[in-house]
Amino acid sequence: MKNYLSSMVIFSFIFMSCNSAAQISTADKKIDAKVDSVLKLMTLDEKIGQMVLYTSGWDVTGPTLKSDYIDDIRNGKCGNIFNAHTVEYVRKLQKIAVEESRLGIPLLFGYDVIHGHKTIFPISLGESASWDLKAIEKSARIAATEAAASGLNWTFAPMVDISVEPRWGRVSEGAGEDPFLGSQIAAARVRGFQGNNLADTTTVLACVKHFAAYGAPLAGRDYNTVDMSQRVFLDVYLPPYKSAIDAGALSVMSSFNEFDGVPATGNRYLLTEILRNQLGFKGFVVSDYTSVNEMVHHGVVANEEEAALLAIKAGLDMDMQGEVYAKYLKKLIEKGLIDEKTIDQSVRRILSVKFKLGLFDDPYRYCNEAREKRTIYAPEHLEAAFDVAKRSMVLLKNENNILPLKKGEKIAVIGELANSKRDLLGSWKAAGDWNFIKSILDELKEYNGEKNVLYAEGCKKMGDDRTGFAQAMATARRADKIVMVIGEDAEWTGEAASRSNINIPGVQTELLEQLKTLNKPIVVVLMNGRPLVLAEENKLADAILEAWFPGTMGGKAVTHVLFGEYNPSGKLTMTFPLNLGQVPIFYYEKNTGRPIYLGNDKYKSKYLDSPNDPLFPFGFGLSYTTFEYSDITLSTNELQQDGNIRASVTVTNTGKRDGEEVVQCYVRDLVGSVTRPVKELKGFEKIFLKAGESKKVSFTITPDLLSFHRQDMTYGTEPGDFKMFIGGNSRDVKETSFKLIN
Ligand code: NOJ
Repeated sequence: MKNYLSSMVIFSFIFMSCNSAAQISTADKKIDAKVDSVLKLMTLDEKIGQMVLYTSGWDVTGPTLKSDYIDDIRNGKCGNIFNAHTVEYVRKLQKIAVEESRLGIPLLFGYDVIHGHKTIFPISLGESASWDLKAIEKSARIAATEAAASGLNWTFAPMVDISVEPRWGRVSEGAGEDPFLGSQIAAARVRGFQGNNLADTTTVLACVKHFAAYGAPLAGRDYNTVDMSQRVFLDVYLPPYKSAIDAGALSVMSSFNEFDGVPATGNRYLLTEILRNQLGFKGFVVSDYTSVNEMVHHGVVANEEEAALLAIKAGLDMDMQGEVYAKYLKKLIEKGLIDEKTIDQSVRRILSVKFKLGLFDDPYRYCNEAREKRTIYAPEHLEAAFDVAKRSMVLLKNENNILPLKKGEKIAVIGELANSKRDLLGSWKAAGDWNFIKSILDELKEYNGEKNVLYAEGCKKMGDDRTGFAQAMATARRADKIVMVIGEDAEWTGEAASRSNINIPGVQTELLEQLKTLNKPIVVVLMNGRPLVLAEENKLADAILEAWFPGTMGGKAVTHVLFGEYNPSGKLTMTFPLNLGQVPIFYYEKNTGRPIYLGNDKYKSKYLDSPNDPLFPFGFGLSYTTFEYSDITLSTNELQQDGNIRASVTVTNTGKRDGEEVVQCYVRDLVGSVTRPVKELKGFEKIFLKAGESKKVSFTITPDLLSFHRQDMTYGTEPGDFKMFIGGNSRDVKETSFKLIN
């Protein structure tokens, strides 16, 4: 108590709230002054304590746990905690920091609130398929509101890693393969998490991860080596991190992988030259889980002391769970290997964020039981989760319009996943609770009537047990249509969940094959966290609905899409390959010197045993209605360096239902000092069209959008000829051309 009182005296003269946006720059200066006044009071040990982050062990998100973190909080040796939530628990830990540590500096509380905290939204890859920035921002806003009501003030999101590697389980956490779309989504998520004001008690600090290039592990194996050219890094992988930082994210997490031979956590090029000097990042950088220690295994340092030195010199401010900073930073200063000023700089960054969050004003500002109670699972949150889940789903096939189903039709529902609540939530389900939610089967019964929904599990999502096949066949015989829900176990996606084959696991497809012999219409509903190879299923099913792991309200969302209460509008944000051998496959490939369209002879860039084309291209997704595109008209076909081109198409809903379409605009730079992709997304708009309605959609192309890293590594444009494409996916497009004038 004595310490608490003395710290209250210290802090009472330096606290001032600064909520108005107009005061921001003055507020920043005031914060700097406050930070300095705190820093002056701190011992070296206390400073290092601020650079330390430990897991509470409430949730296990990595390989190690630490039992004595409570003492460390008390002794000022741990300034930040993750994996602790609920007002009750956070208050308990915060109280120790504020009342029992010498200076009473409040703790940051972090958690992986990736796609919802309690109310779980679709996995991030699914959300990206909505191409709906407002919906995505809202989802992050709600996640932040619930997290903040549970005592948290920091989320380890957004994950903005571009990836073209479906074997890598973590594609489920990102926004897919495209840098342009990925950048817009990254910014939307940061806006959602942080709002306009970090001090608002419904917002949390965002953490952009994983810096950098974590999405490109060789062979898709998690944590594996990344080896890419600087040009690809700068043009393809870096933009979403930049966009998130420009949107105001104040923390960044370093990645596990190496980059150009040096692990990201100790990589000065990444953490200082790029992140701080080029992107102008002003917040703090936290390592990933024990990634400082892991530099020993990477083989760039001989021991943990050297790891601490490499990391701090690279620009890493906070050590997650590794205890390396805690053990070695002081020693390194004593040995004269680093200056205390370096430590001060990191501590300043961390304290500054704590001030911005308002934690010094009131360390318990995220700890209000009444607010927690009324916020968690608020009806409007569940409604939003339902809405986003519907928007995320992608209709991949709909032969003879067998979807939507008609109310009252007798359907046989088959598959373990149809009856699974846990899997609906996907990986990184945060504090999501599946016990009270409804499965797809529950919702189908509720909507279509118990007697019209027959269920047989048939088989598990994994394993080779076929004993349920007979019952599934008998059940299916009694129905008009078959709805089979197949896919992956949620635990087979996300971190440490790489796969060497990306088929539907187990005997699910074998059962589908048997069901096909009944000659009844078959609808496949997919639950999965990555692009899968669906060549077989595509032959067997009449309709395929990609539902991802759709979250708390996923069962109802699937039901409403299947029955046409909602007309599907999602479009893929990762290419779905025809077979595994095509991986990595993505739409912005290069032409090569021997493109296949020059004639399909032996010496072309192709496979002997497979087409080059994917099964479902980037941007693809059907609707229960159809859309027709007019030719493209351009405001001019000469783009001046200080000008722009308006490219327009008229899109018509030619079907009988109202629906939404994601209109996509791509360009190709035909000749460059370095080779250029065959297509690059440069604009998109999701529009709603009533049946029969037409709308003109326009995109503005500026030279800025055509910039890239040229042969000499300068960033800018090159004059010359361009193609432009507009359509409903990256393959089926209208085409025109224009010139960029010098
Ligand atoms: C490791 C993961 O790579 C990272 O994304 C996550 O935020 C941390 N663990 C903390 O759980």
